Amino acid sequence: MIDLSKTIDLSTTYLGLKLKNPLVASSSPMCADVGNVRRMEDAGASAVVLHSLFEEQIEIESQELDRFITEGSELSPEAVTHFPELTHKVMGPEAYIGHIAKCKQAVKIPVIASLNGTTRGGWISYARQMQEAGADALELNIYHVEANSAVTGEQVEQRYIDLLKAIKAEIHIPVAVKLGPYFSSMANMALKLDAAGANGLALFNRFYQPDYDLEALEVVPNLILSNSHELLLRLNWVAVIYGQVKADLALTGGVHSATDVVKAMMAGARVAMLTSALLKRGISYLDTIATELLIWMGEHEYDSIKQMQGSMSRNAVPQPAAFERANYMKVLGSYAMK
Ligand SMILES: Cc1cc2nc3c(=O)[nH]c(=O)nc-3n(C[C@H](O)[C@H](O)[C@H](O)COP(=O)(O)O)c2cc1C
Repeated sequence: MIDLSKTIDLSTTYLGLKLKNPLVASSSPMCADVGNVRRMEDAGASAVVLHSLFEEQIEIESQELDRFITEGSELSPEAVTHFPELTHKVMGPEAYIGHIAKCKQAVKIPVIASLNGTTRGGWISYARQMQEAGADALELNIYHVEANSAVTGEQVEQRYIDLLKAIKAEIHIPVAVKLGPYFSSMANMALKLDAAGANGLALFNRFYQPDYDLEALEVVPNLILSNSHELLLRLNWVAVIYGQVKADLALTGGVHSATDVVKAMMAGARVAMLTSALLKRGISYLDTIATELLIWMGEHEYDSIKQMQGSMSRNAVPQPAAFERANYMKVLGSYAMK
């Protein structure tokens, strides 16, 4: 039997990093455990993005620290209500920095740190500490939900740009921005982030809407793992944005199989990131996907991942309108009534 891994080149690059394949473990609590990060490398991940360190974690910790020093108080009741995880200190900022260093020692694959916030402030200095701890790159997750109706879309966009610029001024390692799709002109937003210095764009954050608990009459968080259906939104925008920005595109959301990875590559992504698939099937599923990817490529006579990247982007396909309004009309028309 031919060893496909010897004849097919799965390598790619992302944020200037040379990766052995396009399978990256995206940011999740799984990556808070060094053993898991090592298992991800063993199962074939070409890089990992660590779970996020949140602006609120840093700001509250330092505020509480200030208060503790000046007044000797314990954690405030408000902080406990909004950030219950802080009461048992899962991984505070200092531990997070230490975790980066431990992961760097444990694995050879690149370790991408994740900083999660929305405003410019003192917390940004942790980007430098992450760099100093050895992070190969930084993923800046900007998850901003604007509930103030006086704030315009342009102001929201500027907030993203300002934050990115502030982070870029702090560090020299590559920075990818992870963001959601809900901009009036998503492609233009991508261009703006590109111009502001983003080395990569991780598309997309999932928008976690809260649910109602009707018995308790409370608004409750609601986390459902993804399925391959979520891939389609990402494919659409990766395919549209590909070729228009210098930044490398990462697809995150809805990658559950080797064919999902192929689609991500053809749309124009440099890497396909996985979280839900690994939470559902275990870290070793990375190995299954890598094997199935080789088999698929062998059967379809592809020699390399690079060869397929962008081959079905909007500009490469014969009907670019398929990514626009024409698709909407076609989709609605395609429904067959029973
Ligand atoms: C339990 C859980 C925790 C997550 N934690 C983070 C996080 O800390 N930071 C982050 O940027 N994304 C986080 N994510 C989002 C994932 O990185 C990923 O972008 C998202 O789940 C979509 O990919 P998937 O369809 O492969 O799950 C989390 C996702 C899950 C399911």
